[in-house]
Amino acid sequence: MKEISGHLSSVAVIGLGKIGFTLAAVFANKGFTVYGADVNEQVVNSVNDGKCHIKNEPGLEQLAQNAYKQRTLSATLNTPEAVKKSDVVIVIVPVLVDEQNNIDYQYIDPAVEEIAKGIKKGTLIIFETTLPTGDTRNRFGKKIEEISKLRMGEDFYLAYSPERVYSNRIIQDLGNYPKVVGGLDGKSLELASAFYEKALGCELIKVSSLETAEFSKVAECVYRDVNIALANELAKFADDKGVNMPEVIAASNSQPFSHLHFPGVGVGGHCIPIYPYFFINKGLNNGITSMAREVNDKMSDYAVLQIEKEIGSLENKNILILGLAFRENVKETTKSSTLLLIKHLREKQANIFLNDPLFNEDEIKSYGAVSLALNDKQLSDIDVLILQAFHEQYKDLDFNSFSNCKMVLDGRNVLNKEEIESLGMKYKGIGN
Ligand SMILES: NC(=O)c1ccc[n+]([C@@H]2O[C@H](COP(=O)([O-])OP(=O)(O)OC[C@H]3O[C@@H](n4cnc5c(N)ncnc54)[C@H](O)[C@@H]3O)[C@@H](O)[C@H]2O)c1
Repeated sequence: MKEISGHLSSVAVIGLGKIGFTLAAVFANKGFTVYGADVNEQVVNSVNDGKCHIKNEPGLEQLAQNAYKQRTLSATLNTPEAVKKSDVVIVIVPVLVDEQNNIDYQYIDPAVEEIAKGIKKGTLIIFETTLPTGDTRNRFGKKIEEISKLRMGEDFYLAYSPERVYSNRIIQDLGNYPKVVGGLDGKSLELASAFYEKALGCELIKVSSLETAEFSKVAECVYRDVNIALANELAKFADDKGVNMPEVIAASNSQPFSHLHFPGVGVGGHCIPIYPYFFINKGLNNGITSMAREVNDKMSDYAVLQIEKEIGSLENKNILILGLAFRENVKETTKSSTLLLIKHLREKQANIFLNDPLFNEDEIKSYGAVSLALNDKQLSDIDVLILQAFHEQYKDLDFNSFSNCKMVLDGRNVLNKEEIESLGMKYKGIGN
């Protein structure tokens, strides 16, 4: 097989979304020639025009500009072409779940087929997309062999390295988090490690197989989901007993063996509520992981019941949800708890209003709620406020504007209870 360790100099990044584009820009500033590939023509044109289509990522715009000036980053709709020119191929096209929580390969399968058409002897392919355990080898490695007629481990190298970064601080996390790397064999691991040493320069954790690396990311997400569910369950008990859960958590976590997470109105995003299904759907249907998913998804229902308990029927009540995004300061709605809140409030025939400074009026309307700005006169008609995502802009929220509001449901336990109660409104947190 062609030895490429000495001159890993060109990289194809397949999928130029939030993560892929950031990776491409970082690699293009570390001495690599980067060929990005995407199916979205607007994205490809934007990259070739030297623009940065991913917003709110500190440092990214500058890296993209440098890469453009140095001509080290270009993009194409033609994945095989990008792959042909590259020593290393990074795959970062999503795998999601559908409405029934079945694993959805509709984006990555065609990407892998295109990659297979472009590889040559000696190419190193690294999957970074979060995957069900075994897929790098059994689903994608085999598909590449079938199409390219090349053999993994003999003609091309194969590795897996999970992407673990957090939106809004991707570049910082890329430098700080250890990179977990697993290879098909010793040589694949050695090459992938050499690549990341040069491309990221961070600490490496070399694990013994592709599957270990794949499962380490899913296990991380399961851990967080299950522990949030535990916090939610404890919070419900605390509510029932009139105990303050945040105070309990601070007290319990004061020794080194307790790591209680924080309760809340639900878990959203494209990681924690999705990747547990890569585990549940692969042979474990009734364990603690599926229970945790259920507990977390029912927190929005629980929140609505808490409001009903306090103010009675919600029929025709004006309820304003703060935050459409799944979490603070990101413009992303995947599995946002607000979607579940809207569903439950609609069942109760409430009038649903929604504010999110990161979305425009049309975007908000498309989720079936009335958009309400924080300087609108109608704020005085609001009966109940629900805080779902604690965006920066809500830190200075003036509760005086909500002159007829009876209750504030603080879904993230972050608001000032005393201030709210001093204005004659009932304050309720989750377990608080
Ligand atoms: N976003 C995060 O915070 C995050 C964090 C950790 C890990 N990840 C991992 O990164 C993956 C990608 O996340 P993202 O946020 O960049 O997704 P994204 O939705 O922002 O981007 C995906 C990109 O893939 C492109 N694409 C779709 N089908 C394609 C194909 N066949 N060929 C080429 N390109 C194709 C899309 O056009 C899009 O530009 C996730 O699925 C997850 O595994 C994401």
